[in-house]
Amino acid sequence: MAKTRRTYFCQNCGFESAKWLGKCPSCSQWNTFIEEVVEKGGTKVPDWRTEKSGTLRASKAAAIHSIVYKEELRIETPDQELNRVLGGGIVPGSLVLIGGEPGIGKSTLMLQLALTLPKLKVLYVSGEESEQQIKMRAERIDQSSKASCYILTETATKNIFKQIEQIAPELVIIDSIQTLHSAHIDSSPGSVSQVRECTAELLRYAKESGTPVFIIGHITKEGSIAGPKVLEHMVDTVLQFEGDRHHVYRILRAVKNRFGSSSELGIYEMQGAGLREVSNPSEILLSQRESSLSGIAIAAMLEGVRPMLIEVQALVSTSAYGTPQRSTTGFEAKRMNMLLAVLEKRFGFRLSIQDVFLNIAGGLRVEDPAIDLAVLMAIISSQQDIPLPSTVVFAGEVGLSGEIRAINRIEQRIAEADKLGFETIYVSKYNIKGLDLNRFKIKIVALSKVEELFQQLF
Ligand code: TYD
Ligand code: MG
Repeated sequence: MAKTRRTYFCQNCGFESAKWLGKCPSCSQWNTFIEEVVEKGGTKVPDWRTEKSGTLRASKAAAIHSIVYKEELRIETPDQELNRVLGGGIVPGSLVLIGGEPGIGKSTLMLQLALTLPKLKVLYVSGEESEQQIKMRAERIDQSSKASCYILTETATKNIFKQIEQIAPELVIIDSIQTLHSAHIDSSPGSVSQVRECTAELLRYAKESGTPVFIIGHITKEGSIAGPKVLEHMVDTVLQFEGDRHHVYRILRAVKNRFGSSSELGIYEMQGAGLREVSNPSEILLSQRESSLSGIAIAAMLEGVRPMLIEVQALVSTSAYGTPQRSTTGFEAKRMNMLLAVLEKRFGFRLSIQDVFLNIAGGLRVEDPAIDLAVLMAIISSQQDIPLPSTVVFAGEVGLSGEIRAINRIEQRIAEADKLGFETIYVSKYNIKGLDLNRFKIKIVALSKVEELFQQLF
């Protein structure tokens, strides 16, 4: 009889070690090592391999020009946002991981997909909820669904594959990978080796049968997919579902995609009856605007490759305490401090005795440096209590000496502002070389310094 093999795994990052360690050398976390049984006695062959394909097929090398490439027939889903993020639909035989914090709406998104694919037989495997709970959710999302969707509440991979053989689904959804367990591994569900083994079995099934498989995975507080990073390497596509749970907007972002661009993203709104696609984000993000308030500036930002206009709100008020408060939501605090220092040092605004609060509307988190200019203008507008015209948009990065720097994809941003009926856009002078300005109706003002902007607007 073969011996049992045991190793220690870091439960945070999946690092493997032969002996127990107090601190993980890979992710520097303390006390994360747990002993797991990697191989039980007897030969370790997952069911799928023995029951379905018998012996493993040996591959032969082929010259690259002799390989015939067929344009894969993608499955187009009714969800245009999902199609976009996947790179144009679901690729047969692909393994897609959907990560996100608990409660963000992963199960809702997947169930909605299952219910809106009328031509495909879908198997929804849930290890988290009962059949009744899923039915209840399905009723909320779509009561008149004609989809042939099967629900299985099971966590043992062996039984799941048995059901798969009976039902022969054309799409499989697993909710979630952390609840599955394989009989070949002794450790508990959710542990690194279980997650890895279960994913390997699903991967094998997806590739051999050509059935696409969606796996839901939870995300830890640190923001990585719970359990191991290895999961991300094994799957074809990693989608991240994110957003603030208290806001209604959700972003589905492609983190890795073997079949498309990884800078795509989809936007949804969480409603009483499931998730609704948001095909024109700017209109919604700007719709609640009061034109005559100070401290508000509109930025033309880019999320992935999608341009959208967003409202930056600032509040500057005299500090009641010795140490003024600085607080940001949706924008990096360090970056705001830098911009405040630029205003203080270069232009003499006395901000060091004032509280500054900054908020990006809609609960989005923006990393695009192009919103610097709008942040700066919102702060000044609030400090001076002078509202900015409601028809202007800003798109520019601000440097340490108060210069307006060029940003990427300026044309797309201008086009978006133009489309939404804005009258003026302020951009960097270095951005407009070779640009056909007459193409747009919007007035494009190109500047090199922040002072010039102050002169024009205040
Ligand atoms: P859920 O899909 O269960 O999240 P996850 O699987 O990522 O943990 O969604 C959880 C939240 O979504 C829950 O707080 C309720 C809300 N929700 C709606 O607002 N409308 C709906 O139609 C549904 C189904 C859920
Ligand atoms: Mg869930």
